[in-house]
Amino acid sequence: MEKLVEMKRITKQFPGVVALKDINLDVYPGEVHVLMGENGAGKSTLMKILSGIYSPTEGEIYIEDRQYKHLTPEISQEHGISIIYQELSVIDELSIMENLFVGRLPEKRVMGIPVINKKYMMEKAREIMRLVGLNRSPMTMVEGLPISEKQLVEIAKALVWNTKVLIMDEPTSSLTLDETQNLFEIIRNLKKQKVGIVYISHKLDEIKQIGDRITVLKDGAHVATKMLCDVSGKEEIITMMVGRELKDKYHSTCCENTDHEEVLFKVENVSRADGKVKNVSFELRKNEVLGFAGLVGSGRTELMNVIFGAEKMNCGKVYLEGRELKIKNTYDAVKKGLAYLTESRRETGFFDNFEIWKNIAMEESLRTSKWSGAYGLIDENAEKLEAQKHKDQLNIKATSIHQNITELSGGNQQKVIVGKWLAADAKIMIFDEPTRGIDVGAKSEIYKIMRELVEQGKGVMMVSSELPELLAVCDRIVVFNEGEIRAILEGKDATEELIMHAAT
Ligand SMILES: Nc1ncnc2c1ncn2[C@@H]1O[C@H](COP(=O)(O)OP(=O)(O)OP(=O)(O)O)[C@@H](O)[C@H]1O
Ligand SMILES: [Mg+2]
Repeated sequence: MEKLVEMKRITKQFPGVVALKDINLDVYPGEVHVLMGENGAGKSTLMKILSGIYSPTEGEIYIEDRQYKHLTPEISQEHGISIIYQELSVIDELSIMENLFVGRLPEKRVMGIPVINKKYMMEKAREIMRLVGLNRSPMTMVEGLPISEKQLVEIAKALVWNTKVLIMDEPTSSLTLDETQNLFEIIRNLKKQKVGIVYISHKLDEIKQIGDRITVLKDGAHVATKMLCDVSGKEEIITMMVGRELKDKYHSTCCENTDHEEVLFKVENVSRADGKVKNVSFELRKNEVLGFAGLVGSGRTELMNVIFGAEKMNCGKVYLEGRELKIKNTYDAVKKGLAYLTESRRETGFFDNFEIWKNIAMEESLRTSKWSGAYGLIDENAEKLEAQKHKDQLNIKATSIHQNITELSGGNQQKVIVGKWLAADAKIMIFDEPTRGIDVGAKSEIYKIMRELVEQGKGVMMVSSELPELLAVCDRIVVFNEGEIRAILEGKDATEELIMHAAT
């Protein structure tokens, strides 16, 4: 069979980093070629070379009998290569339809004059949106859509055109299980049409379901390329990625001899005016990780936004250590000892163009500086030490803590934001999907840190869509459905079935 594309001996150097060393990769029609590796291994860089964003330092790319030293986005598109970016590239200020056609508006001629073919755009947008399961009007503005729907817009963008090679860089990181299964159905259809797919993901369970072949990268070097039917299981993939066997993948739960009775934080009859949170009450006890399960849109994130002062609470009360807490806004929340790792990290998580250490130190200095603003007394050296500690602990791959966060790989940016909230040293930590986009090794590190935090007497609340993660880390699990609590399960008694049953 003829290859669709072949990348040969690709090397890519950034200032101070060799991101890729001598990499070969090819794609056949109708196959899903999975690309895996730890955060910072070079996956996105390799794919950005194929989509014409970056030029390789060395190597060649062969497409349809032509040889290129480098591509441009235009050449790549002309060859039918489409990419779904890891960091969403949708534009908030445009409608869904405008996003689908941005940069390539379809034209028609009216009396010889080219005009935009709005009718075609509308019909095509409806068709593609139905395909990906986006139940909205094409005229809906992207701003304000939940992150999972933004990801569906990103996917839809790549499907508007007749694609021969489709690159998907972590397409499911914010999708629900149903949305993921729907995407797999789309992928199976594309395979039948002989589209070649490069699929990047950190979710090991997906790989066997959808992949045909796998290539593993480590620190920019090629580790292996294999047919997936020849791979024995997840463990083998992990070993290829990490370079050693990873024991203790999910840190086991519950520290036995700690006191689980004392209430640290309490939420009483909290509701939102929009009805997305209805009369929610629960207690967070000392030394416990409290999990929040539920389908996407069940109200978990909406609740956390209210608790943290990011959105308005209609009625209800919140108590910290027995005292009522009146939170005016998010800044006030940080001051009063709360930390919140949001699920939309690109938007609310970090400061572009700031160095890593400044991003990590941000909340800590907000909380501790007596005079915020011009008179804020900040101990930069201490902050740098703290940042270095978290960089090492989370194994953040960067040239130093002085590197600009925008130069990091997607997963390493996520780790910086996790580091920021760990450094904030808050009493109550809220983590919304803390391990999204993070590789297996660092995941278990984050679980371990959460357990350490609660052992130090802090309270941790974790919203997660990954049931194995909730089951492994949480002492108790609150299950949400349609803005209400449906069950609170003891971690040791909970199972995936029990959670799903309560959540639906
Ligand atoms: N624009 C850039 N400038 C400098 N270094 C960069 C740039 N883009 C990527 N890098 C570096 O290249 C290396 C590979 O990054 P890449 O984004 O390809 O990783 P990845 O495998 O996609 O990781 P992840 O799973 O975290 O998304 C990293 O060390 C990263 O810091
Ligand atoms: Mg990446």
